[in-house]
Amino acid sequence: METETKQRNSFTSSIGFVLAAAGSAVGLGNIWRFPYLAAKDGGGLFLVVYLALALTFGFALLITEVAIGRKTQESPLTAYSKINKKWGFLGIFSFVVPFIIYPYYCVIGGWVMKYMFCYLSFQGQVAVADGFFGGFITSQWQPIFYTVLFAILCFIIVYKGVEHGIEKYSKILMPILVVIVVFIAIYSLFIKYTDPSTGITRTGLQGAAVYFIPDFTGLTFTGFLTVCLDAMGQLFYSLSIAMGIMIAYGSYMKKDVNLNKSVNQIEIFDTGIALLAGMMIIPAVFAFSGKEGMSAGPGLMFVTLPKVFNSLGKFGDFIGLIFFVMVMFAALTSAVSILEAITSSMMDKFKWSRKKSTLIMAASTFVVSIIVCLGYNVFYFDLKLPNGSIGQILDILDYASNNVLMPIIGLLTCILIGWVAKPKTTIDEITLNGENFVRKGLYIAMIKFVAPLLLFVILFKGIGII
Ligand code: PHE
Repeated sequence: METETKQRNSFTSSIGFVLAAAGSAVGLGNIWRFPYLAAKDGGGLFLVVYLALALTFGFALLITEVAIGRKTQESPLTAYSKINKKWGFLGIFSFVVPFIIYPYYCVIGGWVMKYMFCYLSFQGQVAVADGFFGGFITSQWQPIFYTVLFAILCFIIVYKGVEHGIEKYSKILMPILVVIVVFIAIYSLFIKYTDPSTGITRTGLQGAAVYFIPDFTGLTFTGFLTVCLDAMGQLFYSLSIAMGIMIAYGSYMKKDVNLNKSVNQIEIFDTGIALLAGMMIIPAVFAFSGKEGMSAGPGLMFVTLPKVFNSLGKFGDFIGLIFFVMVMFAALTSAVSILEAITSSMMDKFKWSRKKSTLIMAASTFVVSIIVCLGYNVFYFDLKLPNGSIGQILDILDYASNNVLMPIIGLLTCILIGWVAKPKTTIDEITLNGENFVRKGLYIAMIKFVAPLLLFVILFKGIGII
């Protein structure tokens, strides 16, 4: 065991681990989905519910995965069977999910790259044209080209390993990301826009009020439940839980690091960036198009925001550029974590070298990425998903992983740790160096009872039963 631990890659410092894990957690979910949900679900009300769930439900699931990783010193595919021999199947699930997610995450990363290059070459106005986004994703070669670029970057970082790749790049990219988000959030507050057609002037500050002040008008009990469900689903996705990622990263964490403290820091980072992303986007979109503009949903980032940047004149082009650079960093550190989860699984299972494992995983997922790109032209079809939305290949993969497989993995992990192996398994790891685990009682209640129940609800909602 001793030599095995020594040979295993590891993060050199606890800050390296925290930034890499935060890099995984902070992604497109924080930047467009969180603000959009907050705007839809009554601003401050959503924020309060989200924070309460983050400190309880999110915390319990996140710390469990990190502890499983550090305890077993194994990647997701092999870690579960080390906790309990009969539960190896859960490892296979945890390998399959990132294998499904990674290809389409690269495709979205490619879209972000396209926009970044657009702004880099002073063509921000082009991105505003009606049909620009649709035209781009349905074209045959461009999306593939940008996906390749994005996938190559991920490949290089993972190929270089934990210390010289993931840790090093997270330590550079994450601080830059924070600076950009804070800068745009402050700028956003000072936006003032007069709609030429109506003559109405709105400010960013008014938008910030919409974001922070809870709106209880017309709130019903079912409405409140929707807010809770939205917050739960968002939190789960935002923390990159149930994909094996946090197990893989936990396995690279040194034994003398305070696990509880690091997990708290990841949570603060992830939630902080989500809140700031809201401050960055909601006031800007509100000033530009009022409350209605905020319901743009997924199109918010690629369609609505370029219009906001364009309305701000020359400086808007600059803001657009740094915005997409920041989104690129967020997407890159998340995608890297997914590729790492599957690469490390192959390394542990088949004892492959990192180089061989990264090459094979990157190449095989790349084939799927191309199929996802072609889903908007050659393989185009509309499929009605069980939750009522219409989707193409990307949406189908997203649906299968986020709405079905991930809640199942989360649920089974709770059953394994809460009931089969017992919470002592993870608690011993959390308190390995004699740390005081303040939220221990809460943790046990969460992992045994509350989290499984909430995960059932998320799963039922995902498959359209409720
Ligand atoms: N946690 C990321 C976010 O909030 C999403 C993500 C999904 C990251 C899958 C890694 C893997 O955007």
